[in-house]
Amino acid sequence: MNRPLNFGWDFLPDFSPAYLSAFPKDCESVDLPHSATLAQVAYHDEESYQRLFTYGKTFELEASHPYLYLNFEGVMVQFDLYLNGELLGHFVSGYLPVRVDVSKSLKVGKNRLIVVVDGREDPLIPPFGGEVDYLTGAGIYRGVYLETHDGPFVEDLFVEASASGLVSLSYTIQGEGKPTFQILDGKDQVASFAGTSFRLDNVKPYSLKDPHLYTLRAIIGDEVKEVAFGCRDIAWTEEGLFLNGEKVFLRGLNRHQLYPYVYGAMPAFFQKEDARILKQELGCNIVRTSHYPQSEDFLNECDRLGLLVIDEIPGWQHIGKEPKWRDQLYDFTKRMIVKERNHPSLIAYGLRIDESGDDHELYSKIQEIKQSLDPKRASLGVRNFKESECLEDIYAYNDFSCNSLSHGVDDPSTWNGAKGKVKLITESNGHMYPTASYDSTEVQLEHALRHARVLDDAMGKKGLAGALSWCAFDYPTHETFGNLDHICHHGVMDQYRGKKPASYFYASQSDENPVCYLASSLQSSDYPAALLPPAVVFTNADEIDLFIGEEKIGTFYPDRQHYPNLIHPPVILDDWIGERFKEEKISAKDRKTIVEGLNFSAHYGFDKLPFRLKFKMGLLMMKYHYSFTDVYNLYGKYINHWGSGKKDNFILIAKKDGKEVSRQEIVAPRNGETLVSVSKSTLVNGDTYDGTYLTLEKRNEYGYRCHKAFDPFLIEVEGPLRLLGPKMVSLEGGFASIGIASTRVDKPTVGRIKVTGNNFEKILEIEVR
Ligand code: GAL
Repeated sequence: MNRPLNFGWDFLPDFSPAYLSAFPKDCESVDLPHSATLAQVAYHDEESYQRLFTYGKTFELEASHPYLYLNFEGVMVQFDLYLNGELLGHFVSGYLPVRVDVSKSLKVGKNRLIVVVDGREDPLIPPFGGEVDYLTGAGIYRGVYLETHDGPFVEDLFVEASASGLVSLSYTIQGEGKPTFQILDGKDQVASFAGTSFRLDNVKPYSLKDPHLYTLRAIIGDEVKEVAFGCRDIAWTEEGLFLNGEKVFLRGLNRHQLYPYVYGAMPAFFQKEDARILKQELGCNIVRTSHYPQSEDFLNECDRLGLLVIDEIPGWQHIGKEPKWRDQLYDFTKRMIVKERNHPSLIAYGLRIDESGDDHELYSKIQEIKQSLDPKRASLGVRNFKESECLEDIYAYNDFSCNSLSHGVDDPSTWNGAKGKVKLITESNGHMYPTASYDSTEVQLEHALRHARVLDDAMGKKGLAGALSWCAFDYPTHETFGNLDHICHHGVMDQYRGKKPASYFYASQSDENPVCYLASSLQSSDYPAALLPPAVVFTNADEIDLFIGEEKIGTFYPDRQHYPNLIHPPVILDDWIGERFKEEKISAKDRKTIVEGLNFSAHYGFDKLPFRLKFKMGLLMMKYHYSFTDVYNLYGKYINHWGSGKKDNFILIAKKDGKEVSRQEIVAPRNGETLVSVSKSTLVNGDTYDGTYLTLEKRNEYGYRCHKAFDPFLIEVEGPLRLLGPKMVSLEGGFASIGIASTRVDKPTVGRIKVTGNNFEKILEIEVR
């Protein structure tokens, strides 16, 4: 049995030997997951958690058990553990769980645990030793459980299952005994057996569309252990990845498990949300858990949703020479594989420190470890150079060659170290074009189009299994990496999980939901020199009809010429006049030239007209006796009425299979409306507290984010609720969110969230059970 010990810890933001005898009376009571410090929203002080913290917990053991373990799912970074005044040992956790045998030291009755957490970046523990491009935070940032067994039990249960239903397993036993096994499909038992393999009939394979999960139950006496598994065949070949015999081009993003204010200390709801966003909102089929093993809540949700995963040992570019550092990495590798090998969504282990140099000894040993624990699953190693010794199955390359909109990725045939290996792009973009959610429309558009360029190029390359870009969400980092604010604005979403236009590009590559997102402003005053450049729409529709008021400009199609490989290329609106041009005395043929000239001038400026067009326009001016003023007036009539008081209401109608799937009217927005919402309004405490996002967004009357809004809000909670951050927040680029956590209740209780802004107040009720 696993008994959660997550509520009601005493917390002290420092350490003194005196705490080992007694905590000060007024110490704070906290629940786990807990971040030892509350981070700034930006301008992070990475020094703030480089110290010791003390946690204490008193709990009752009602009866004795022959086997007792304390499981710490994640403590950043290392800790001393005291039980009833006695030091049980020193443990290194970081991103991996620690299991401590307390069978002999726990006593029936009251027990007192003290955990002295050391949050410092110890250079002898990976990922540390060099400077790392992310912050780790400190604290007991995942759950703590007391595991009890009353008789022999199964450990290290490892299940593998093929699409044809062959289930194989291995395990060890604590004590004496022989287990029997059951397989459950939902609640129904579909098999029972002893031994280490079984063939399931009528198997439902695990696929991206139908990620069917079974449960394996191991039983010895009263001891039961359950593991979820999926039946699937994974084949990495030089042609790419085949899942159950079907080729899948991997399209995904990297994820840091970092959130505003609390680093990685978030309970299940928020972890699962990230998986849902990646799969269902961004349409990704894969995520890389860069650059360390991530929360089981996140991985379980990836299994459930059918979001493939590549994990990674903790690290960042640096390889320690010290035997202690290297031994720690070997130990972490073992612990990561044992923690993660049962996940059906996990299709390869990342077994190289991200972007580190070759190190034959280190990486050979790591391969040996993998072979001993999970020989069938593939491994990959992420590099940012093309020439390298590759001991892994997959040569993964971070291709940062995209430095404009005309080049996405290099040809994988130039990756010299990758001959005969599977090839995968694991990162691109990122620092090549940092983009904050409040940057100008043009910057945000370019950011999105660079992602489109990379993916289009990658999909056109032979022998590439896929491309994952950098990255899903903005994250806090060390001074030397982020913008001045110590944030890497590299996400397609910001750290609040607010969408940047690039996220709509990803969404548009999936057919799950209709997407039609205008990523450009259609207001000339938003551009230098009041121009109106071609506008970009990310959509999975077949065509877009563009109108101004009642008048149709034309129908626009996905730009297959510039994006020949994407499933749904962006649609470029590059004509502001089209069918509206009605100047009777001008012939149909000449209209084309004039419309082209006017559009070109709108896009790039009169002064940029190429000689050919200038010359033709000049001839037509002579032919129709037009002065410059006449041409200028035509421009004003059809395109830019700067200062005339006249407003264009553009209407975009997206159609799929001839049917309208989206209609949007767009004029210069006037009224920003603040929308306040929660992801769910009932929180249910379980092993630990539950949570929800409180989201604040300013939208214009057409449903588009007012990305130049920075309004401040005061957030107050009442009842069994707690803020996972400060009570003053400002919108950033029109959006902000904050985690709201439940506290313990004896009976269902309603709490209130009050949001106050300038001339704004909203109250939301949340029930906590
Ligand atoms: C890569 C690295 C990532 C991140 C990214 C920024 O080199 O692997 O962790 O730093 O650059 O673009």
